[in-house]
Amino acid sequence: MRRLQQEAEAFIHQMYREKGKPEAAGGRIREIAKEIQATGTYTHTYEELSYGAKLAWRNSNKCIGRLFWENLHVIDARHIHSAEKAAEAAREHLRFAAGDGKIRPTVTVFPQRNLDGEDPLFFHNHQLIRYAGYETGRGDPHSLETTHLAESLGWKGRGGDFDLLPLLIQEGEDIHMFPLDQKQDVQEIDIVHPEEEKFKELGLKWYTVPAISDMEMNIGGITYGAAPFNGWYMGTEIAARNFADSFRYDRLKETAEILDMNTSKISTLWKDRALVELNRAVLYSFQEAGAGIVDHHTASEQFRLFCGKENQLGRKVTGDWTWLIPPVSPASVHIFHEAYDNTVNTPNFFYRNNTSENKCPFIKSKDKSLF
Ligand code: ARG
Repeated sequence: MRRLQQEAEAFIHQMYREKGKPEAAGGRIREIAKEIQATGTYTHTYEELSYGAKLAWRNSNKCIGRLFWENLHVIDARHIHSAEKAAEAAREHLRFAAGDGKIRPTVTVFPQRNLDGEDPLFFHNHQLIRYAGYETGRGDPHSLETTHLAESLGWKGRGGDFDLLPLLIQEGEDIHMFPLDQKQDVQEIDIVHPEEEKFKELGLKWYTVPAISDMEMNIGGITYGAAPFNGWYMGTEIAARNFADSFRYDRLKETAEILDMNTSKISTLWKDRALVELNRAVLYSFQEAGAGIVDHHTASEQFRLFCGKENQLGRKVTGDWTWLIPPVSPASVHIFHEAYDNTVNTPNFFYRNNTSENKCPFIKSKDKSLF
């Protein structure tokens, strides 16, 4: 309780300081103290929820896209207590975030964790949109576990490479399952190459809204166990990781072959060349479709601006270099040549304890496990 009070105070002070009205903090802090004394916890105002969520993004050390933290759309879904209504809200989130192509960074916040440490609702999905993975090798191997869970609840996939998983929402003791509407809820882009016709025979596609749904958001000592959030994609996430990793879609060889590269020796650098062509294709296809995406050079420049702005305001930027550098041509961006302080500040997003490191959301980790 003491701890909660302290964390609430730190957050409220920070919020009012940054909003230029530090004198307003005291009153609100006393109000929160009373509420904690009476109920053991407290409730954020919408302004606090909204600013706190933005700070959680600003403090996300792994994220290169933080220049836009103030533009986060914060949807208050704290009144929702049923899985069914949560599924509706999640689908609305997806449609709102996709907009008409200009992706809107959005978080939908469901009820906070209760005093027993339980979340009234939470998602078993890693992202709101994700493709199933099968033992046959088809689909996204990252989704094997979630696919099993869906199957155990009666879901049947088509056994393909891009079958949309249903939403899997825990409400109390039960997991409820809701299909997405492929047409209405999910915008998908067929991947073609700017010059090579044959490239489309690879049959690749991807969705436009990456909405992480298995992390919790912490603001001022309050935890939101269900708070799916999205930005837009950086091309490399899809092209250099999802399509290329040997433990994901693993398509480098096929890409090199369809583009007639010499794959007889590794030293022809066919892997590197295939990576570049995959990245060009993803960026080109999204752009042609009018769907928001950013290349890693532009994203790095935006991150430079973010750091500059923060420093000018007297704030220190924290960051995780191992995640901030792009997986292709890392040394071609300035981030590679800088050092970052990886201190974790709150508000922030954290892995839920039911998510193991190997289900890590941004799919980039240095250790032995899957990701
Ligand atoms: N790397 C993840 C993926 O490929 C998405 C993580 C969030 N990315 C983002 N641009 N907001 O699906």
